[in-house]
Amino acid sequence: MYPRIRTVALYTVSITLIAFLMYIRKETKLAVSPAARKIAAPNPSNTFWALEQTEPSKCLPDLTIASSSAALPELHRTFLMYKHCRNFSTLLKPSRCSEETFLLLAIKSPPINIDRRVAIRNTWGKEVAIGSKPIKLVFLLGRSEAKIQAHSLHQLLVYESQEFDDIVQWDFTDNFFNLTLKELHFLRWFMEDCPQARFVLKGDDDVFVNTYNIVEFLKELKPGQDLFVGDVISKARPIRNTKVKYFIPESMYKAPYYPLYAGGGGYVMSRTTVQRLQSTAEDTELFPIDDVFVGMCLAKMAVTPLNHAGFKTFGIQRPFNPFDPCLYKELMIVHKLNPTEMWIMWTLVKDDRIRCAVSLTQ
Ligand SMILES: *[C@@H]1O[C@H](CO)[C@@H](O)[C@H](O)[C@H]1NC(C)=O
Ligand SMILES: *[C@@H]1O[C@H](CO)[C@@H](O)[C@H](O)[C@H]1NC(C)=O
Repeated sequence: MYPRIRTVALYTVSITLIAFLMYIRKETKLAVSPAARKIAAPNPSNTFWALEQTEPSKCLPDLTIASSSAALPELHRTFLMYKHCRNFSTLLKPSRCSEETFLLLAIKSPPINIDRRVAIRNTWGKEVAIGSKPIKLVFLLGRSEAKIQAHSLHQLLVYESQEFDDIVQWDFTDNFFNLTLKELHFLRWFMEDCPQARFVLKGDDDVFVNTYNIVEFLKELKPGQDLFVGDVISKARPIRNTKVKYFIPESMYKAPYYPLYAGGGGYVMSRTTVQRLQSTAEDTELFPIDDVFVGMCLAKMAVTPLNHAGFKTFGIQRPFNPFDPCLYKELMIVHKLNPTEMWIMWTLVKDDRIRCAVSLTQ
């Protein structure tokens, strides 16, 4: 009896020791970058073995950049150190698009924004087809930045993904400066799992999309021709004020103006443009502002983004009356709405009996 207990005890001790050594090694490795530590902080409810498996994809920071960018804000330095890291694995994904998919709604959403995803699924993201044109909705997610709820949040996402089959999640931190990574991985996912979709609407999770107007607008257009439509900004100057969220130092972008680009709140593309965007993006250096990055790729492709007055990606002028049915007549996308405003808009857009007074007299 005794020798067996001794063997078991010895076995347990050595396993613990190995685990401890691995843990120490990981801690020293992570000490390199405070940002990386944030992501892979050990979760007390996990065993070390399970942690090994859920660890983010490995790509080490380029430390030579740390010294040359010492004067930049922390976020910019982190961005530069990890800019070469472009390949992250997929954690969750929905079933493939059907070959008939007419419009793919691809919505960027941080993991924590469960309420926004619920609001979208219950309003403008609800229709599986409009006038016999099949529609598919997917949400694009990274990993939660907060380490405290990371584990339980991930469990919730697994459930959400099983329940709604509309989540694509990749293994990089979901934050503002990683949105370009999200763009790149979205384009790859499209080529792999949704290549037949005729058109794509890419947007944020706080937009209202008048899917009826979008389908009406796209009906006559050809997916095989280049098309990029949105709220186009021309001659935007890079912000050189370090206190602003969109600050870009000259070392990261020298020219006085950005190329033409559409506000990232929401824009529409044809299949051909998405395909070309993917191959162009693969050969383009990441830039922290994702809509500008897309503008850079479009410029390389010689595609001119078209402006459309119905894309209000900077929101509509407030105060507005959300109960005014005329508001929606020409609208494609409205940015910066809360779930309640989305709900009111959707109810009015859907209700055939509520007609805009202008359209009645015309
Ligand atoms: C990412 O993957 C591509 C192709 O799979 C490869 O060519 C490239 O070198 C990879 N990049 C990094 C930084 O691992
Ligand atoms: C982007 O995500 C990667 C992987 O999680 C991380 O290493 C990097 O620090 C993030 N970039 C920024 C600017 O936070």
